[in-house]
Amino acid sequence: MKFGHFDDEHREYVIETPKTPLPWINYLGSKEFFSLISNTCGGYTFYKDAKLLRLTRYRYNDVPMDINGKYFYIKDGDTVWNPGWKPTQTDLDEYECRHGIGYSKFKGVKNGVRADVLTFVPVNDNCEVSRLVVTNDSSAEKSISIFSYVEWCLWNADDDSRNFQRNFSTGEVEVKGSAIYHKTEYRERRNHYAVYSVNAPITAFDTARDSFLGLYHYAGDPEAVLNGKLTNSMASGWSPIAAHQLDVTLKPGESKSYVFVLGYIENPVEDKWESHNVINKKPAEALLAKYDTDAKVDAAFAELNDQWDKLLNIYTVDSSNDKVNRMVNIWNQYQCMVTFNMSRSASYYESGIGRGMGFRDSCQDLLGFVHLIPDRARERIIDIASTQFQDGRAYHQYQPLTKKGNSDIGSGFGDDPLWLIAGTSAYIRETGDTTILDEMVPFDNDESVAETLMEHLRRSFGYVDTHRGPHRLPLIGRADWNDCLNLNCHSTQPGESFQTFGPSEGPVAESVFIGGMFVKYGNEYADICDLKGLTDEAAKVRASVAEMTEILLDSGAGWDGEWFVRAYDSYGGKVGSKDCEEGQIYIEPQGFCVLAGVGKETGQAQKALDSVKAKLDTKYGVMILQPAYTVYHEELGEVSSYPPGYKENAGIFCHNNPWVSIAETVIGRGDRAFEVYKKTCPAYTEEISEIHRTEPYIYCQMVAGADAKFHGEGKNSWLTGTAAWTFVNISQYILGVYPTLKGLSVDPCVPADFGDFSVKRVYRGVEYDITVKQNGVQKGVKQLIVDGAQVEGTVIPYDASKKTVKVEVVMG
Ligand code: BGC
Repeated sequence: MKFGHFDDEHREYVIETPKTPLPWINYLGSKEFFSLISNTCGGYTFYKDAKLLRLTRYRYNDVPMDINGKYFYIKDGDTVWNPGWKPTQTDLDEYECRHGIGYSKFKGVKNGVRADVLTFVPVNDNCEVSRLVVTNDSSAEKSISIFSYVEWCLWNADDDSRNFQRNFSTGEVEVKGSAIYHKTEYRERRNHYAVYSVNAPITAFDTARDSFLGLYHYAGDPEAVLNGKLTNSMASGWSPIAAHQLDVTLKPGESKSYVFVLGYIENPVEDKWESHNVINKKPAEALLAKYDTDAKVDAAFAELNDQWDKLLNIYTVDSSNDKVNRMVNIWNQYQCMVTFNMSRSASYYESGIGRGMGFRDSCQDLLGFVHLIPDRARERIIDIASTQFQDGRAYHQYQPLTKKGNSDIGSGFGDDPLWLIAGTSAYIRETGDTTILDEMVPFDNDESVAETLMEHLRRSFGYVDTHRGPHRLPLIGRADWNDCLNLNCHSTQPGESFQTFGPSEGPVAESVFIGGMFVKYGNEYADICDLKGLTDEAAKVRASVAEMTEILLDSGAGWDGEWFVRAYDSYGGKVGSKDCEEGQIYIEPQGFCVLAGVGKETGQAQKALDSVKAKLDTKYGVMILQPAYTVYHEELGEVSSYPPGYKENAGIFCHNNPWVSIAETVIGRGDRAFEVYKKTCPAYTEEISEIHRTEPYIYCQMVAGADAKFHGEGKNSWLTGTAAWTFVNISQYILGVYPTLKGLSVDPCVPADFGDFSVKRVYRGVEYDITVKQNGVQKGVKQLIVDGAQVEGTVIPYDASKKTVKVEVVMG
């Protein structure tokens, strides 16, 4: 069942009912000012850091669901309603929400009045613009009142939700004309404030929450709105809000437009005040003046759309499969940009006060956006590498505002160092910019111990190479990609963190998965060494990779007979083996070892993937492990803490489904690669939105596995490495347009009935116009013709002197 539809021409998902199975949200903002906005106008806004500089308040896990947002109320006689249905939940005659790329639109119609809202964050300003247009569609004159409402957060969202003994006494505001200023803590150490204004004279305002809502009311029945009259309250100590009242009379057919701006202002310390305790409003007034007419709003909206046009033109596909076109050209790349902006910080499942930027998460996210914003990817790589320790280990997380590694989780995750190679290699393959390798980059943000980025990569590889266990497999430390496989933790008391309890590294517990990564990124590192002319080092690295490959294929170490073992626990026992009672097979080593090419020649690759299909596949995707753990295993940690079928305990972890799909392309099985791709692909799961529940235009982190009561139900949408990996899968492996160090390679692996297709790809400043004749073949390039001339192999020689290159590929 669907609750809306895709409008590909406008790059929008059109939600047709406010009663979606879960709030379906969108993100506004692409630089420093961000908002989350749901299909019923819920959500919140922050500047740079969702924890430290939160502008508006949101209450997670509240009831009824998704209650706080930025709302407009319309009072028409005795009826009060909202264009986005919530929070009054007054039934609407018509409702529509269009989530677009960096903006959302709402349409609500009630009793002959129509309200259209367009909300977006302009490209270059720290504000959110909301244009509300009210139209009288009835045949009689209408006098209505419009009310706006936002609830301020007292900046630090963590403190805001806990420190009430202080917070109930600190709220401060100012009002000037239609502009309401939130200035809590400005008198002391803050030099920033927020403003909420409208480009028209107002009848009244409120800034004290109790006056607006009424003490025992809530946003669904605000007393002042029900009374039809705001009270001009001035917040003092208690919770500050901003609400405007506009009284409007509309003739039949008449429309009126209002532009609301929610902005963030920082003043230089010496220029904070206009007069004693009166804030300097000049920069706010200048900001508001930039959006005080419809024409200015139209221009800013056009600029936003232009920006996205440019980004989304870098990789486009035209195939006979609409769903693939839609995901590749619009939504998958959009989600990659959102994960770039947010990492894992702020979604409807990540509260914005918990996690910083993950080391491994950010490196993997980069794989999905490096082609869109290579300069910012470069900066990100340097930021990430700057948090690395001198011995090659890494902080697991760092703070976006300070860019420093944090001790919340600390270090010791065996896979982290190798992801830095993955990200850097992707950047160089995309841009050809090897100067990044010579950048001096600090360790642990200490400039006095800076070394080149190349040296950082060397230490990354070296760390894993020299930290091996009894089977010569890499030591796992606190965990590898699977944060919940905590083999050195041995926690028995509630409240102990699985990620920080116990030693950060043990001498026995090993990861086969990291072995697969070692082969994949060891090879990429060796290629980088070659590029730098370091042939001896490249040879040594390749020797280590070859040795690791043997270990992985050895039935006394990485191989279990029909699939790859997952790990060895701290007692030396196998994890993910037919010898185990529960958790006999895990997805990660099958996907990653095969995508690294391990077992391709020996037939073990095919065996491992066949086992995945036989043992882990479901109609909703490939589960992470089977059989699920039904009891808690102290020697395994968090993985066995979830009820069967959820999260890492046999859920369908969408992040590693593309690894299996990519692995299938490596052995040339296009039908199966695409089958795996489709199962978790939003454009396909849209049809079962009542089961899937999360947004049908983007990926979620996890879908409940076969053991779960609600098999097929999605959780944790938006901020997941799934976005990057599925884009890598579909764009580089299935459609096969893969950036190498030497140039673009075209080597598709598609289902037999996929048909001919074309890809436009801007790469290192050259536009490639690629057409593929498929000939019913799943994999194999018979002919590669570049600007009319036949070329050997699959790599298009890079020629910077050309602006456009025509490429014809004949499969066979
Ligand atoms: C984390 C990832 C991790 C994954 C699997 C996610 O929540 O952000 O870093 O790889 O879970 O455990």
